[in-house]
Amino acid sequence: MTTGHHLDNRTFHVITFGCQMNKHDSERIVGMLESYGARQVQSVEESEIVIFMTCCVRAAAETRLKGHVASLKNIPLPEGSTLDQRIIAIGGCIGQNEAGALIDELPHVSAVFGTFNLSSVPELLAQALETHSPAVEVLEAADEFPTCLPSHREVPWSAWLPISIGCNNFCTYCIVPYVRGREKSRTLEDITAEAQTLVDQGVKEITLLGQNVNSYGRDLYGEPRFADLLKAVSDTGIERLRFATSHPKDLTDEVIAAFRDLPNVMPALHLPVQSGSNRILDKMNRRYTREHYLGIVNKLREACPNIALSTDIIVGFPGETEQDFQDTYDLIDEIGYHQVFTFIYSPREGTPAAELTQDTPREVIQERFDRLVNLVQAKAYDANQVDVGARIPVLIEGVSKRDSSILAGKSPKNQTVHAPIPEGTDLDELLGTIVEVEVDEAKTWYLKGHII
Ligand code: SAH
Ligand code: SF4
Ligand code: F3S
Repeated sequence: MTTGHHLDNRTFHVITFGCQMNKHDSERIVGMLESYGARQVQSVEESEIVIFMTCCVRAAAETRLKGHVASLKNIPLPEGSTLDQRIIAIGGCIGQNEAGALIDELPHVSAVFGTFNLSSVPELLAQALETHSPAVEVLEAADEFPTCLPSHREVPWSAWLPISIGCNNFCTYCIVPYVRGREKSRTLEDITAEAQTLVDQGVKEITLLGQNVNSYGRDLYGEPRFADLLKAVSDTGIERLRFATSHPKDLTDEVIAAFRDLPNVMPALHLPVQSGSNRILDKMNRRYTREHYLGIVNKLREACPNIALSTDIIVGFPGETEQDFQDTYDLIDEIGYHQVFTFIYSPREGTPAAELTQDTPREVIQERFDRLVNLVQAKAYDANQVDVGARIPVLIEGVSKRDSSILAGKSPKNQTVHAPIPEGTDLDELLGTIVEVEVDEAKTWYLKGHII
């Protein structure tokens, strides 16, 4: 079958849910399909092919996807299309988890692929176009790192750079190790070479990606450590360097020191704690204690006094008592994060926690959740106040959603910063550049200022 022939000039649209890993996988898919002559479009209406990159980390993500797919049924194909129906493909973590079962549930889906076979996507789509019957391929594991695939970055100035795939931690609530497989690291040379290419292309910001970047390299010859990799990528001269996600149990003193010693490592760290109760942390199989976590936070703040911390919290893990929740609440209060992503526990079939009985009523969990969200907002507001009056470098990413005369960008601490477009300046000239902003006001989720 001639894949290129079937895809040439076809229009496609990719809709991505879930984490940065999925977003990066989507960039690879766009890059690949474009190399076959297909054209990316920005809406379902304009597209002959719609690809969903899906997430199954919580049940809500799955429900949302199914509603979304069903709603496509009534949208006509773009004018001039030679197809008799739109090609709908489902990939990512739900694709991996449910495979062929998706076709039974959503009969108008034409192709399903998983997390291990991105490189087959063009062929699967071509097959669906040629045979008019569903093309399904889901593999059990990756045979190699999918970094040889072309990539089309969402924006030219920022890049995600995967350093490892998969996860070996098996937190008892989490489905990721089942849909992304065992941890596999990419070689240090390969990563550094890609980072150098990105720098040469003018990229300003690189985010190293892995489910747990801190355990990078344990499976490689010579066991390079994440701190070594961070130094090597920093040496490429990239302007801003970030990484996600960090597991507290594997965060070493060397990585903490990088926040002090490497000027391009940005002062922001996402460090998911999940719970402040040692009893719950143990049931989650997180393998650290509240005391250990607080110890790391102290060291981080010693190394980098202005570091902005963010975290993830799960409320309502099975058996969570009022005291357990209070421990979480107090921890959030004590640390004062810039950002906390709060989730209500969602049982995922196949994970150990899904076997536990949930004895806390739904309303109690919701009430705890709401209490926590209020605290998170108050703390985020407080954390931002220290920047009022400061002059900070801001990477301009676009305009404010509500007002197109206001620039939106990111501070080193990863805060959103708004500033009016200076008179006589063109937005296009500013996009992707770093400008100095003086902060006039700090809100809960953004800073307001003006360009100096
Ligand atoms: N590897 C990353 C990301 C995991 S998924 C990490 O270890 O942090 C992102 C977040 O989703 C997790 O940090 C956790 O807070 C949340 N999450 C994962 N499984 C969940 C579940 N079953 N119910 C509710 N939240 C969950
Ligand atoms: Fe899931 Fe835990 Fe792995 Fe993160 S570290 S992906 S929460 S199993
Ligand atoms: Fe979701 Fe898969 Fe990421 S389950 S959080 S998209 S690894």
